[in-house]
Amino acid sequence: MSAFIARQETFPTVDSTQHIVRAWLDAGVPEVAVAVADVQTAGRGRQGRDWTAPSGAALLVSAGFRPDWLPLRHAWRLGAIAALAMLDAGEDAAGLKDGTLWLKWPNDIVADGPDGRLLKVAGVLGETALLGDVIESAVVGIGVNGDWRARDFPPELAASITSLFELSGGRPISRDALLDGWLARLEPRYEALRAGRFDAGAWTTRQRTTGHRVEVEAGSELIAGTAVGVDPESGALLVHDRLRGIDRPIGSGEVVRCRIVELPARRGDLL
Ligand code: BTN
Repeated sequence: MSAFIARQETFPTVDSTQHIVRAWLDAGVPEVAVAVADVQTAGRGRQGRDWTAPSGAALLVSAGFRPDWLPLRHAWRLGAIAALAMLDAGEDAAGLKDGTLWLKWPNDIVADGPDGRLLKVAGVLGETALLGDVIESAVVGIGVNGDWRARDFPPELAASITSLFELSGGRPISRDALLDGWLARLEPRYEALRAGRFDAGAWTTRQRTTGHRVEVEAGSELIAGTAVGVDPESGALLVHDRLRGIDRPIGSGEVVRCRIVELPARRGDLL
């Protein structure tokens, strides 16, 4: 275990690794505290959604931080560095070409599927505890579809997800190697954040939404337009509003769902 990690445990079954790490932080465990589970009985996704994966099919991990030095307006960057670290760790663990995995704003990891569909590989959930304007602690959880066969995908998800196993053409994915690869890449990104640096370049260029028509459900509003980029200062998605002639920023906190409406079947079609 590297000096970056103060505590790391793997559990056969928990309700949610988010809860484990939150309880540790509340009890005074120092950063970085990492909980991994084989199975979660009450795994949680964004916006109160459930997160399920059969035993052995996914990396289910939460990491706890004490980033009281991070300005509150940049709290979203914790989820962003977790996702960026996992893009590279996932490609490495599955032997994929660089650039196979993409970010899908706000916090998904996706790959191009057939017919221009995007298939979800992983999701990130960031939760903070604040003391006034100070981030007293934060838990960032990530669920990655690792060694999961397509034949075992739940029917209701089969058209919208994939796994590292499937993307690799059937290579067994070691959960522990994926975890180690993620933590090794997370450490320099976290230390850079502490030093006031954020990899805006990677976060911007690896967004799959950019250049595509999107529909974003934000609060009770449905916003449709072309995603023209993301703002590395605020974390917002920028959607071009043709009527008003402006690029409208949409904050990640308000988003229930973000859907890409049309995507060319091949990346070359964009040229
Ligand atoms: C999402 O895409 O909605 C985010 C999913 C986050 C799931 C992970 S699995 C490990 C950790 N524990 C949880 O209960 N949720 C996160």
